[in-house]
Formats: sequence, structure tokens, C-alpha cells
Amino acid sequence: MSRVVVTGRIPETALEKLRAEHEVDAWQGPESIGREELLRRVAGADAVVSLLTERIDAELLDAAGPQLKVVANVAVGYDNIDVPACTQRGIVAANTPGVLTEATADIALGLILMATRRLGEGERLIRSGQAWKWGMFFLLGSSLQGKTLGVVGMGGIGQATARRAKAFGMEIVYQSRSEIDPGIAAELGARRVELDELLAISDVVSLHCPYGPATHHLIGAEQLAAMKDSAYLVNTARGPIVDEAALAAALRDGQIAGAGLDVFENEPSVHPGLLELDNVVLVPHLGSATVETRTAMAMLAADNALAVLSDERPPAPIN
Ligand code: DGY
Repeated sequence: MSRVVVTGRIPETALEKLRAEHEVDAWQGPESIGREELLRRVAGADAVVSLLTERIDAELLDAAGPQLKVVANVAVGYDNIDVPACTQRGIVAANTPGVLTEATADIALGLILMATRRLGEGERLIRSGQAWKWGMFFLLGSSLQGKTLGVVGMGGIGQATARRAKAFGMEIVYQSRSEIDPGIAAELGARRVELDELLAISDVVSLHCPYGPATHHLIGAEQLAAMKDSAYLVNTARGPIVDEAALAAALRDGQIAGAGLDVFENEPSVHPGLLELDNVVLVPHLGSATVETRTAMAMLAADNALAVLSDERPPAPIN
């Protein structure tokens, strides 16, 4: 029997699966586990099932000890894990691709609709108790039909977002490290372009690339200036892909029309410049937040951990 440390609350079915085979120490506090407590608890662990709120770095891997075999993140993004440090120590790192694709694409489309149709503004207006009535020019937004969606990062979530946008009558262009499957490109009518062209021609730019040194501030002042002043930016990937201060300035100065953000540069803080603006929709990292999706993520993370503990290849290894 091995020792599995779970760094935060996860669905009970996944805990039961782990408990059926191993001794499980799962943090159950209402708040995230503190760093000191986490370092103390991982000592002697054979597996760590981690949440994206916990930093899994060399210090933590060393605190766990040389018996640690696997770090299974309950997320597809793994910018919280120092993967080279895991590899160096012979530790398998794993994530949860696929199971949150549709839920995250739903939120991307939701943000596109909220931003372009000014739903947040309308909701805030009614809740404020201010007088309002239907008017020909009242809270006019922008239609999606016939407009262009630019997808940055055309992996599973980018493709699922494009599929939804196509159903709303949008044309699709994308920027990606590689061409996507020709059959899928044909089905979506999607054309691969360079980022410069995508920014210049898109009416909505939706970010779906992973975060890392290569994508830090991929969208900054220069890129925002290259967008149409009628365009919208949506980010459901990772906050630091966007320079938030530059975005707040671009939104304030009318350089772009609006934005929808599910993720933030210094999560859970939000740039104060954004909080003052009406033309940005702000939601608290809800991309995968459905009961079904979170359960599937936790089960896949448990399967990753269990496989490595049984000396098998996990279903979703990173390294
Ligand atoms: C992920 O899995 O990376 C998501 O951001 C979690 O919601």
C-alpha cells in the first residue's frame, strides 16, 4: 500500500477509488492548503494528486522524498508544476486532457456572447435598481453572424470553441504550432494564419494555447493595437498569456471593443483597471466548473496516480 497525498478537496468518487488501494491523506480544509502544511504532508508520499492552486516545484519534490513516483494534476494546464524538476528526479507528471474540453469551450462561447451582447452590463443595470426601458439604441451589442473568430491555439478546446462559433455563423481562422487534421479544418472551414494576420482580421480573438515562457504576454500592447477597434478578446486559457495592464488600457481607450476573461494574470487578484470597466466580462476561472467535468478530471487524475503506483504507463502523462 502506497501513500497518496491529495492537496485539496476533490470529488468523493475519486477519493474512494484511491482509498480502495492506498492510504490517502486528503486536505479537506475550506481554504487552499498553506505552503508549510503542504510541505509537511507530502513528506514520505508516493503519489501527489495536485490542484492547480498548489505550486509543485523542486522544493516540494525534495520535501516529499526520493520515493515519490507521480504528480497527478487535476487540470489540463500544468504551469503550476515544474515538469523538468519532476523528470530530473524520475517522477512522472500527469494531467487531465480531453475531459474538460467541452465545458471549457462552453465558457469561451459564453464569454463571447456575454461580451458581444453586453449581458454583464445589462445584468448589472437591472440589479442596480436603475430605471430602464426597451429602446432602439439601448445597450446595442455586436452580432456574431458572418464575423470572424480567431482561435489562438487550435488544440481540443480551441477546436471545440470553433465548432460552437461556426454554429453561430462565424468564419474561423486559427494560429497554431501545427496544422490541424485536414478533415476537421474542412468541417470547420478553418484557415491557419500567422498571429499578426489573425489579430488584424478577427472580430473575436479567443485564446486556447498553453501557458509557458513562449506564451507569456503573448497578447500585449502591440498585439492589442493590431486588433480592430470593434474586436473582442476572450481568455479561458491562462491569465499571464495576456498583459492585463495593457488590456485594461486598450479597453479604457477604445482600442478594442470588449473582452471576456475567465483567467487572470495574478489569480485570484484582478487588475484594478479592469474592475472599473463596463466593457469587460469577468468570471472566476469557471472553465471546467461543472459537476460532471470536475468528477471526470478527478477520476482521470486518480487513474494517472494509480497506474504509476502499479508501475504502469498512466493514461495522460506529461513527461
Ligand atoms: C485546467 O484544467 O487547466 C483548467 O484551467 C481548470 O479549470
